Amino acid sequence: MRSLLLALALHVFVGAPLAAHASNAPALWARCAVCHQPDGNGIPGIFPPLREHLGAFAASAKGRAYLVLVPTHGLLGAIEVAGLRYQSAMPAQPLEDDELALLLNHMLEIFPRALPQERAVAPFDRAEVAAIRAAHPKPAPGALLALRAELLP
Ligand code: HEC
Repeated sequence: MRSLLLALALHVFVGAPLAAHASNAPALWARCAVCHQPDGNGIPGIFPPLREHLGAFAASAKGRAYLVLVPTHGLLGAIEVAGLRYQSAMPAQPLEDDELALLLNHMLEIFPRALPQERAVAPFDRAEVAAIRAAHPKPAPGALLALRAELLP
C-alpha cells in the first residue's frame, strides 16, 4: 500500500512537469464518461461501451482515424457493440488536438487491451490528431459508419 501511494505521488509530482497537461486527462475522460460511464462500459442499448474495441481500433491507421473523427464530428446511425444495437447520436466534442491525443492515450491506459498487437500500439500525439483532422475536415454523412464497417466487418 505504501509503495502504491509512493508510486502515485511520484506520478503526480514528477510526471506533471514532464507532460504539461497530463493532470487533465481524467477531467477530459469525465466528459465522455457522462455517457460512456467511468468504467467505459456504457449503458446497454443506450450508450455503447468503449472498452470493447478501443485497442483494436488503435492498432490500425483507419481505426486511429475513426477514434479521432468520432469525437471530432460526432456519430449518427446504427452500430452494434458486444451484440447490442445502438441507433443513436453522439454529439461532437470540442477538444484541441493535444487534448484529444491526451484523452485517447488515457483511455488506452485505463481500458484493458487483451491482444499483443493492441498492447503494442503507439500513443497518439498532437501531430497525428491534427493530420487526421486535416485529412477529413467534413466527413460525408455515413462516412464514419462505413469506416467502422471496414474495421469490424
Ligand atoms: C451525450 C452522450 C455522449 C458523450 C458525452 C460522448 N459520447 Fe461517444 N457515443 C455516444 C453515443 C450515443 C454513441 C453511439 C452513436 C450511434 O449510435 O451512432 C457513441 C459512440 C462513440 C464511439 C464509437 C464506438 C464504436 O464502437 O464504434 C466512440 C469511439 C466514442 N463514442 C467516443 C467518445 C469520446 C472519446 C467521448 C468524449 C470526448 C464521447 N464519446 C462522448 C454518446 C456520447
